[in-house]
Amino acid sequence: MSSGNLVSKAAIVTGGAQGIGGATARRLAAAGAKVLIVDVDAQAAGANADAITQTGGIAACMIGDVSQEETAKAMVERAMSEFGRLDILVQNAYGGGRDRAGSAVEVDPRAWREGLDLLVGALFLGAKYAVPAMVESGPPPGYDPGPWQGAGLRHGTPPPREVGRIVNISSVHGLVQAPRSLVYEVGKSAVIGLTRQMAIDFGPQGITVNAVAPGHIVTERMEQMWQQTGNEEGFHLFELHYPVRRTGVPDDVAHTIAFLCSPEAAFITGVVLPVDGGLSIQLQENVIMDLKEYILEHPQLKTHFDRRNTARR
Ligand SMILES: NC(=O)c1ccc[n+]([C@@H]2O[C@H](COP(=O)([O-])OP(=O)(O)OC[C@H]3O[C@@H](n4cnc5c(N)ncnc54)[C@H](O)[C@@H]3O)[C@@H](O)[C@H]2O)c1
Repeated sequence: MSSGNLVSKAAIVTGGAQGIGGATARRLAAAGAKVLIVDVDAQAAGANADAITQTGGIAACMIGDVSQEETAKAMVERAMSEFGRLDILVQNAYGGGRDRAGSAVEVDPRAWREGLDLLVGALFLGAKYAVPAMVESGPPPGYDPGPWQGAGLRHGTPPPREVGRIVNISSVHGLVQAPRSLVYEVGKSAVIGLTRQMAIDFGPQGITVNAVAPGHIVTERMEQMWQQTGNEEGFHLFELHYPVRRTGVPDDVAHTIAFLCSPEAAFITGVVLPVDGGLSIQLQENVIMDLKEYILEHPQLKTHFDRRNTARR
């Protein structure tokens, strides 16, 4: 674990107990980063931290709700005391609620506030406390910026570089909207605006801020959902929507996040990188008409869309 490209870096992964965050915590640790998992699920967080340490990585966990300011503050303090520095913040945590599904007419104002507090507010709070800690930490020990004078028109004192990385998790739902999902769609769209704003604000301090927009990722929870409410034919219908003819796995997103945190991605900031097998760039009219025959041939197909009024978002 000491030879990866994130050696000497310390990371926080919110919602790092399982799913995309779980895979990301393992992937960053495998690249040499020390990882603090912050999650509300103590058991799963502990199990993921154990899995990392058992394979030679360095991980700790902290239990807390990241939509609360005290958690955001405490997680940064914990990373600084546990690892002595902070370089990477992956803002991934989300847990839906049934009352968050619906249109503006249907959603309760309390559900709106709670949903957006977690989808967007938590990312503001995370950055609020993480950025000063990243600046205080500076570039990782042993960082060699290379010669400044040379190619191009470089002059004067070089700007700070390799000070920090923030990766915010948006979704294809931040790029295209689904009906009756006001809270989630607005939240994931706002993550994109927040990412661009932070990229501009923190770029001069040597911190890059990017977002990833995953498509359908079959996490542990999604796997369970498919087993409970879907069937093989329904799952294949999902796969057929994707130009690459498969849905995603947590590692697809974890690898992308690890790249955005790597020295090789130093000049990338403010982007929203879809990790969606091409889902969001495809014209829908064609997809729908192309799938018509498949649906007619498989009238028994079932997906979670067959559950009425139970959308988790
Ligand atoms: N799975 C997908 O298909 C998919 C697609 C696009 C975007 N996303 C986004 O990716 C992120 C992770 O999704 P996932 O599918 O891996 O979810 P998941 O449910 O598998 O894992 C989410 C983790 O976040 C934790 N969590 C929930 N609320 C929290 C809170 N308030 N504070 C701290 N931790 C909390 C949960 O305990 C859990 O460990 C989310 O932001 C989600 O919106 C997921």
